[in-house]
Amino acid sequence: MDIDLHCHILPGLDDGAPDLAASVAMAQQAVGAGISRVVATPHHGGAYNNEAPAVIGAVQCLQHELDSRGIPLAVLPGHEVRISDSLLGDLEAGKLCTLGGSRYLLLELPSGRVPAGFGELLHELGVCGIVPILAHPERSSEIQREPERLREWIAGGLLLQVTAGAVTGAFGRRMQAFALRLCRTNAAHFLASDAHDVSARKWQLAEAYASIARKLSPDLVGTFRANAEYVAMNEAIIPEAVARGLSIPRVLDAWPFNIRVKG
Ligand SMILES: [Fe+2]
Repeated sequence: MDIDLHCHILPGLDDGAPDLAASVAMAQQAVGAGISRVVATPHHGGAYNNEAPAVIGAVQCLQHELDSRGIPLAVLPGHEVRISDSLLGDLEAGKLCTLGGSRYLLLELPSGRVPAGFGELLHELGVCGIVPILAHPERSSEIQREPERLREWIAGGLLLQVTAGAVTGAFGRRMQAFALRLCRTNAAHFLASDAHDVSARKWQLAEAYASIARKLSPDLVGTFRANAEYVAMNEAIIPEAVARGLSIPRVLDAWPFNIRVKG
């Protein structure tokens, strides 16, 4: 059974499930798709203001409903945080939910644009003990144009989450090609559904894993699945080359074969 690190299953908080019935329908579909745990990641920032207490309360309500209906899905709190000037202040004030209470925080670019000072933000998050994960980098036209910029950010501690639907081709061939390129070059660390509903933007994790196994490598699927587990367990994911004590230039040459170390 899979864990999904990114979805919009909580009712009425963002552009995902509009109400509890829609959340339950999404949960049933997730279980049918082989998912046993999800991190609920409502948007925070921009048009949405969903501070941690509201998210945690919504998770508890939904979990109670799922348990009462016998739907075997565990829901963990999280956020998809839009990068803004207030992000570090919100983190310090306890307004943000990391993924399942771990050290990992899911970020999204504002309108797909890479903001000035992104590298500094990654550094500041690292100082706070937070490991940032960038959601759907394949969607950013800036990253599509200059994917080599990812190397510096990944060396600075950023992990990347590619969307399952991008891998399966649900968002078109161009985005599919770029998503597969990120996976093929070991720039991606996770796949996640980013599910919003049960139709247009549904759970496609199993299909995406099957596609990666067929087109790239079954081992890569094992890495993605393991990395998602490590996030849920709050264990560290670091490049194997770093663990071997190589310098950053050598790491970039060898980069990044992910392994787990006790955190
Ligand atoms: Fe999302």
